[in-house]
Amino acid sequence: METQVFKLDIWNPDGHAIDYAANCIRQGKLVAFPTETVYGLGANALDPIALKRIYQAKGRPSDNPLILHLNNPAQSRLLAEVDERAYRVMQKFWPGPLTLVLQALPCVPTEATAGLSTVALRMPDHPVALALLESSAVPIAAPSANRSGCPSPTNAQAVWDDLNGRIDVLLDSGSTEIGLESTVVDLSGKDALLLRPGGISIDRLENFLGCPLETPAENEVRRSPGTRHRHYSPGIPVFIWNEKAYPSLNSSVCSGFIGMHMPKNSFFDAVIFDSLENYARGLFAAFRSLESKGVCEIWVEWPEARGIGLALQDRIRRAAQG
Ligand code: TXA
Ligand code: MG
Repeated sequence: METQVFKLDIWNPDGHAIDYAANCIRQGKLVAFPTETVYGLGANALDPIALKRIYQAKGRPSDNPLILHLNNPAQSRLLAEVDERAYRVMQKFWPGPLTLVLQALPCVPTEATAGLSTVALRMPDHPVALALLESSAVPIAAPSANRSGCPSPTNAQAVWDDLNGRIDVLLDSGSTEIGLESTVVDLSGKDALLLRPGGISIDRLENFLGCPLETPAENEVRRSPGTRHRHYSPGIPVFIWNEKAYPSLNSSVCSGFIGMHMPKNSFFDAVIFDSLENYARGLFAAFRSLESKGVCEIWVEWPEARGIGLALQDRIRRAAQG
């Protein structure tokens, strides 16, 4: 298939391109689109055949459920059991980088939930995503628009590199603002569970909920199927940098470095960020650019655990495990 690319002004997206893409969604086709976190690979969330195409295009394991994107909180009631606590959280944090896992209603296809009783919902804070949702008038299921296991795409080039020829449309409105995926919180039971740290900080959520977020027990994989799979890794080894690890830095291979403070050692190439926010925004693109420059291994500085730093630590830990 040929992938059609439309370049869009984020603040004033061309209505014809949006309507064309929305039509594709309604016809069961695949449309990659920008959000404030990362690019998503979208399909009509109510069309089981279109959902199967998402898994095929990404090479995604069929037991990893999808996030359904909405363009207003009220729409959530058509897809999930929404109690008062969940609705208050939506009104406070939507649109924004927060995904809520709730009990699914029977109309949600099993391809979206991977057979779980729950469904993940999010309203993205991005003019192009919201315009696409509005024009297509259906919820859009969208995982990150990368090949399964690779770093999430934070610009259209990364989507193109991974999915050209496997998707129908790519809406390009430049680099994404946050650069890491949404925070995923399970509100389907009594306790609020943190399934994935992300764009909304844990402090802000806990302050609003008035209680600490629990983390699911290690063995409770059912809660967060995505965390079982290898994630966010480039195709080359990633190591966490600390000065003491220096002796194991193999000078015979060309090493790359990503972080906020350039070490004294010599690296073949380095990407240095001047703030934690820019580090989060640029981590995945830095993985991709160093790999494309022929670096054989990447050393990544461990960031501070404040604000977006917790989500950054999570992605770096996973990449280093891959
Ligand atoms: O920022 C984001 O969340 C991006 C943009 C495109 O919205 N999307 C994204 O999707 O990161 P994806 O598929 O890469 O990650 C979705 C995560 C996975 O870890 C998945 O396991 C989890 O959400 N998830 C989805 N439905 C779930 C459910 N019913 N129960 C538990 N976890 C669920
Ligand atoms: Mg993903």
